[in-house]
Amino acid sequence: MAVRKLAPEELQPESFVLSPETEAFAQQQIAKYPPGRQASAVIALLGKAQEQAGGWLPRKAIEAVAARLDMPVIRVMEVATFYTMFNLEPVGKYFVQFCGTTPCVLRGAGDIKKVLERRIGDQNQITADGTFSWLEVECLGACSNAPMVQINDDYYEDLTPENFEKLLDDLAAGRPVRKGSQIGRNRSEPFEAVKTLQDPSLYDGSQIGAWRKRFEEQAQPAATGETEAAVASVPQEARAAKPGAGRAIETEAADTPAERVKKGETPINPADRKEAADPSRATTGDSHTEEGARPAPQSGKSYVATPSKPEEGSPVPVSPTTPVAGTPPSQAETRRDGSESKPDVVVDKDNKTS
Ligand code: FES
Repeated sequence: MAVRKLAPEELQPESFVLSPETEAFAQQQIAKYPPGRQASAVIALLGKAQEQAGGWLPRKAIEAVAARLDMPVIRVMEVATFYTMFNLEPVGKYFVQFCGTTPCVLRGAGDIKKVLERRIGDQNQITADGTFSWLEVECLGACSNAPMVQINDDYYEDLTPENFEKLLDDLAAGRPVRKGSQIGRNRSEPFEAVKTLQDPSLYDGSQIGAWRKRFEEQAQPAATGETEAAVASVPQEARAAKPGAGRAIETEAADTPAERVKKGETPINPADRKEAADPSRATTGDSHTEEGARPAPQSGKSYVATPSKPEEGSPVPVSPTTPVAGTPPSQAETRRDGSESKPDVVVDKDNKTS
C-alpha cells in the first residue's frame, strides 16, 4: 500500500466551506447519535465532503469537518489518512479502482491492467482531460464475478479487454453504461450453464449419484436387513457410560442406621455419638444424633451428600422448621417444596452419615 499523505500544497485549495447540501447531510447524520457524540458521524461527513470536493479530501475539507463536529483536527486527519476510501489527492472524473488480488488475476485482471496503463497511464495520474485516473486496490469482494473494477461508486464485473475498452469509451463519451456484470449474467449466478433448480438431472439422482442411492436403500430397511442389524446391536439394558459414574444419591451405603438396626446394633455409631458430644463441635439447633430422638430411616437407601470441601463435613445446623431426620412424613412439618418425605442428612467430616 502506498504511503497515505495529503496532496502537495500546490494542489490544496485555499478554502473549503460545507455546502448547504453537505450541511443538511451533516445535521441528518449527527441526529443519529446522542448529544455530545457527534464525532461518531465523522466518516459519513468525510465521505460527503469528499464528494463535494470532487472525489478527494483537501486539507481544508478535513478541517471543516473537524470544526463541524467539534473535534481536534488531528483526530479527523487520522481517520481520513487511515481509510483508503478517502482519496487524499485529486482523482479523475471517473476514478477507477482496479482489483489486483489473486482471484481477479487468475481470471484475467492482468489484461485489464494493461488497458488501464495504455488508456490512462500510471496509477494516480489523471488524464489530460481530467476524465480518468486509476488505482490498484485489494479485493473488492466481487471475486465470483472477477475480474472487476470499481468506478466511482459502482462495480463493473466480468471484464474482458474488449468490454472494458468499450466501457471506458462509453463513459468518456457520456453514454449510458451497464453496471455490474458486463456479460449479462445476473449478479453471481453460474457463469456458463444457468441451470440452478431447473436441470432435471438435479432430481433424477444422476448428479448426486451414490448419495441418492443410499437414501433409497435406507427407505427400504426390510429389504436390506440394515434396521434389524442395527436393532440387534443395541444393548437391551442401559448402562452407565463409566462404571462408577452413578450419583452418590440413592446408592446402597455400607454403614447406615438402618443397616445397623438390621444387624442388631445400635443405630447410632458410638464414634458419632462421642463426636457429637464434643462441645468444640457444638452447633445451633437440635442434635440429630441423640439416641432415641428419631426412628430408623424408612428405607435402606441412604441419601448421601458428598462434601466438596473438607470443612463442609461439619454437622449441618438445622432450622427449627426442619423435621428431625427420619421423621415419618405423617409427623413431619410440611415444607413448601414438598421435600418432607425425605429424611434430613448430617454428614460428618469423615463423610459418614447419620
Ligand atoms: S479478488 Fe477481485 S474482487 Fe475479490
